[in-house]
Amino acid sequence: MRVREWDPRAASPAEITSLVETLNEVLAADLPEDPPWQDVQVREYLAETMPGERRISWVAEDDRLPEGESRIFGHVSVLLLGDIGVLEVLVHPALRRRCLGRQLVAVAARRAYLEGFSSIGVEVIGDTSAIPFYEALGFEREYVETRSVLNLSKVDWDSLGIMARAIGDGYRIEYHPGGPPEELLEAYAQAKLEAQDEDDDLDLAPRSSDPQRLRDSLHTLHKRGLKPYIVLAIHEATGVVAGLTEVVVPAQHPERADQYDTIVMRAHQGYGIDRAIKARMLFELRNAEPGLLEVQTWNAHANESMLKVNAELGYQPDRDWYEYGVDVAQLVQSLEPTD
Ligand SMILES: CC(C)(COP(=O)(O)OP(=O)(O)OC[C@H]1O[C@@H](n2cnc3c(N)ncnc32)[C@H](O)[C@@H]1OP(=O)(O)O)[C@@H](O)C(=O)NCCC(=O)NCCS
Repeated sequence: MRVREWDPRAASPAEITSLVETLNEVLAADLPEDPPWQDVQVREYLAETMPGERRISWVAEDDRLPEGESRIFGHVSVLLLGDIGVLEVLVHPALRRRCLGRQLVAVAARRAYLEGFSSIGVEVIGDTSAIPFYEALGFEREYVETRSVLNLSKVDWDSLGIMARAIGDGYRIEYHPGGPPEELLEAYAQAKLEAQDEDDDLDLAPRSSDPQRLRDSLHTLHKRGLKPYIVLAIHEATGVVAGLTEVVVPAQHPERADQYDTIVMRAHQGYGIDRAIKARMLFELRNAEPGLLEVQTWNAHANESMLKVNAELGYQPDRDWYEYGVDVAQLVQSLEPTD
């Protein structure tokens, strides 16, 4: 097996297809309920980042074939953002427990170290081999969320309609496919900023809480094939964004959408906004995305009010999802060959 640095922008179409095939084998083994990926905008998904961020990738391939002509059996990437490197690793199920995962992490960790990064974070999915893997490498669990999945065919649309309308007086709901309009970016960023201050996770996917970062972030989503849908609650007396919810439909698996942020500003909590904007979002998605079957969301265990609303909407808890972190120097040292 050969491990080499790999630039998705320059990759052959056959390499991209091969990576998608391996990813789908991984999904079938580890997350059998998740939809497989389609070979749509995968190159862009892998190549594009926010301005100022860099993603460096490596592949593991059969070394008997020339570069670019072999199948891809393993992939690692490290996204260098702020002061943390965010790792993603996958190894074909047929080639596991042969130290390939370890080798891929080692090459990415060495680069993060050389680039001056001091910590590495990774999202690790509960009930998969990734848990014992990262723990064996010295990563420590820092944060836990539960993923829940809503099956649109099981939604009670009549009660959802009632929820969508049950919002306190003085609020207006707006729907913005593609992202919030330019004139609302400032108020939108303000709501994000308040939520940012309350977060205690590792910031593996930092929020964009100023208007320019928001613009950049929407632009990056579109380039990566991730289509955002936004529903807002506007407080009519002040014009502030009292609440927002964001869902993204990925071109790579358009049958399952991802819930991103849902935020209700502190001063506007207790008026049914969370329920109403999420319910409205589901109606809009049903119309806009006929191929959509499910929506998935991630919630901290402590966020009881949001978990309650999600349960009312019909979300079913699926599995735990963790953030692990490690000190880069320590990781590099522990992965050095000992002989
Ligand atoms: C996690 C993963 C990368 C590990 O790859 P790998 O090549 O099998 O890992 P390694 O062989 O380098 O394992 C290194 C050590 O991790 C630990 N480990 C790895 N898998 C393990 C398992 N299933 N059970 C117990 N320990 C395990 C062991 O200590 C192992 O050392 P050992 O084999 O000498 O005992 C691979 O299982 C994978 O791709 N998982 C799915 C990744 C994922 O979550 N993707 C998200 C969905 S897209």
